[in-house]
Amino acid sequence: MKPATSPKTYRVKSFGCQMNVYDGERMAEMLAEQGIAPAPEGEDADLVVLNTCHIREKAAEKVYSDIGRISKAGREAGKTPMIAVAGCVAQAEGEEIMARAPAVSMVVGPQAYHRMPSMIEKAARGERATDTDMPADAKFAALPQRRKSAPSAFLTIQEGCDKFCTYCVVPYTRGAEISRPFSALVDEAKKLVEAGAREITLLGQNVSAWTGEDDKGRTLGMAGLIRALAEDPDLKRIRYTTSHPADMDDDLIATHGEVEKLMPYLHLPVQSGSDRVLKAMNRSHTAESYLKLLDRFRAARPDLALSGDFIVGFPGETEAEFEETLSLVDAVGYAAAFSFKYSPRPGTPAATMDAQVAPEVMDERLQRLQASLNRDQHAFNKASEGKTCEVLVERRGKLEGQWLGKSPWLQSVFFDGADAGGIAIGDIVTAKLAQAGPNSIRGELVANAAA
Ligand code: 5AD
Ligand code: SF4
Repeated sequence: MKPATSPKTYRVKSFGCQMNVYDGERMAEMLAEQGIAPAPEGEDADLVVLNTCHIREKAAEKVYSDIGRISKAGREAGKTPMIAVAGCVAQAEGEEIMARAPAVSMVVGPQAYHRMPSMIEKAARGERATDTDMPADAKFAALPQRRKSAPSAFLTIQEGCDKFCTYCVVPYTRGAEISRPFSALVDEAKKLVEAGAREITLLGQNVSAWTGEDDKGRTLGMAGLIRALAEDPDLKRIRYTTSHPADMDDDLIATHGEVEKLMPYLHLPVQSGSDRVLKAMNRSHTAESYLKLLDRFRAARPDLALSGDFIVGFPGETEAEFEETLSLVDAVGYAAAFSFKYSPRPGTPAATMDAQVAPEVMDERLQRLQASLNRDQHAFNKASEGKTCEVLVERRGKLEGQWLGKSPWLQSVFFDGADAGGIAIGDIVTAKLAQAGPNSIRGELVANAAA
């Protein structure tokens, strides 16, 4: 199927992790630079980019059904939309997508999307193209500069992963670890701040493995990068995600106590509380070493909120081993968490391990785990009641005069600013956390400015 002409409008649909959200934003900027405009809300786009995720179940099936839906809507509207499949499913199953879905004009991997403009030109001539080349070195330099930013921005500093956890597809889809150069990151952060960012979340599949050299040739880790970025007076908040417990060094722990702009929040996936399961997962930590590490972070920053990722039903996981995960959860008291049923990923070692756990057992374990995690999240939010803190205003709420933002601990806070006057998106206001709900906190405005 040949899309009739060069596309005039685009839509990028990103699935999965924050790194995909970042890539989706960069793709959108690049398409805009080519003179292709974002499709108005509710209207079909000439070019649809599906920026896919391959981390768990049925990702590829979802892509095929999305492709079917987009082509059908196009047919009904009398046009043939150009469809691009990007992201990790593109990387993992590019050839198969091309063979199975003739409506797809191009397949482009996460390290190759800077070459999309020439693929679009080809597609307009009816030529289909696949580009899943790695690595990423040329990509960032080829992308346009940042010109627009929400108050809270993402900045990818590192890509790929060398850890090879036995369940995980990331080392195969995103490739080996690559750190972006220090000067490029300082420059992009500056541009984001000039474009309206007040908070930057540093991103990487294994973000704390970032390493670089400053302008004097000194080797830096992520702690050094955080300290350098914190020097910009207009950047108010810094966060980072996602880390592996093995790459958290003393300098980074100290940074949490020393750099006020580094928010008191740490997402540190543990996956399981059972040492036997952790070993089978090829995680290089034990439950105890993880807990000790958290103690060191908490000693540096006592009000640190903790978040984690969990997998239930890894091959061979027994009831007793699952209960060790529940005990670890009880010991930590997470402020937030993500929990998943194990999903065999083609090509990973765990997919062919014996003793795959039955789906109904996984369902039941996930429910029990989530009950514990929800209990702790609620307790954490309840314990915040009465605190006064800064809130970064991100958008208007549903009600007249209502605003929504984030506390330092990444809680969603809504508050009434109708009588305050002069509040704008991107402001940092002072609010009292008055009442905790299941997913957000009602705040009361104390001052229109930071404390
Ligand atoms: N099955 C289930 N969950 C997975 N994750 C990664 N791979 C899998 C898988 N095969 C989860 C891990 C990781 C998060 C991003 O996704 O918890 O930390
Ligand atoms: Fe996957 Fe994270 Fe393990 Fe890397 S550290 S293999 S991204 S789960």
